[in-house]
Amino acid sequence: MRNRKLLNLCSNDYLGLASRGPVPGQPQASSRLVSGSDPAHTTLEKALARHAGTGAALLYPTGYMANLGAIQALVRKGDRIFSDELNHASIIDACALSGGRVSVYAHNDMDELRRMLKRCRGRAHVITEGVFSMDGDMAKLIEITELARGRASVILDDAHGDFVCGRSGRGTAELLGVRGKVDVYTSSLSKGLGSFGGYMAAGRDDVKLCINGSRAFIYTSALPAHIARDALRRISADAEPRRRKLAENARRLSEGLLDAGFRAGSDSHIIPVHVGGERAAVELGRQLAREGVFAQPVRYPSVPRGKARIRISATARLTKGHVEGALEAFGRAGRRLGLV
Ligand SMILES: Cc1ncc(COP(=O)(O)O)c(C=O)c1O
Repeated sequence: MRNRKLLNLCSNDYLGLASRGPVPGQPQASSRLVSGSDPAHTTLEKALARHAGTGAALLYPTGYMANLGAIQALVRKGDRIFSDELNHASIIDACALSGGRVSVYAHNDMDELRRMLKRCRGRAHVITEGVFSMDGDMAKLIEITELARGRASVILDDAHGDFVCGRSGRGTAELLGVRGKVDVYTSSLSKGLGSFGGYMAAGRDDVKLCINGSRAFIYTSALPAHIARDALRRISADAEPRRRKLAENARRLSEGLLDAGFRAGSDSHIIPVHVGGERAAVELGRQLAREGVFAQPVRYPSVPRGKARIRISATARLTKGHVEGALEAFGRAGRRLGLV
């Protein structure tokens, strides 16, 4: 930044894989329904279906478009949608596009979701993130899948848990032991995998519905094949040591920030440092940059008013020295601003 080197603490490249590509190549520059699929698309989709443990998968140009496309295609006009209040903008936009009747439940409030589902007649869907993008906490997937059983399908956007959480990187559902109970997955290839693109994975019939009904799949250009090949190589690589390193870094950052006196921490690699006021969050970001740490303030409308924060994300690329240096920088910046 302006000829200065900063330690990047706001990257979604959790496993530190992004610097290993991308591979140059020529994009297809048209929709797959117009000029067909490259073998790289179909091979990657098969790998993603195996990864998710579903019958099939479908690629989209981004994770944002995977939500738009899958939710719009799978939710019928008049269906009920129950959506967590902290769900990502792409889910909110997708729900609005779908024609479903949306009820928002308080964040992870299982009593409210239970009451909503009990009153509901007809087709229904519960939609939640796995690891929430701004707070780094996890959806109560065990309860959600239990409450939804026989009443609603469960759609899980695991953009931040996918490839990172769980014993084999299969995401939040694997970590919480509910892999077979999620009906539809949506995710991004640009976070844990460090590549680019998005996908949905589900049973074959739902994937067919998406191929034929997803406007975000039909009316846009295909993910470039060289990116699909790049993503495929990354899925096939053994990322276990990186996941371990990431978990170690995340734990230390959360603990260290709490010890320094910040209202901070989470059970994942996304760590909010709560400041409250918007101006204070911006100032903390500035002070951190002075200290050589790049960590962006997050403000309304990305988070509710009065809940501004610095959102940091641990990555596997951070060395012990980086982590301890960042904690010292936070301490100095926080003390200068009277936050700790
Ligand atoms: C929860 C969630 N879903 C979807 C997306 C969109 O992913 P992509 O960046 O691949 O469009 C994001 C991106 O930040 C996200 O946080």
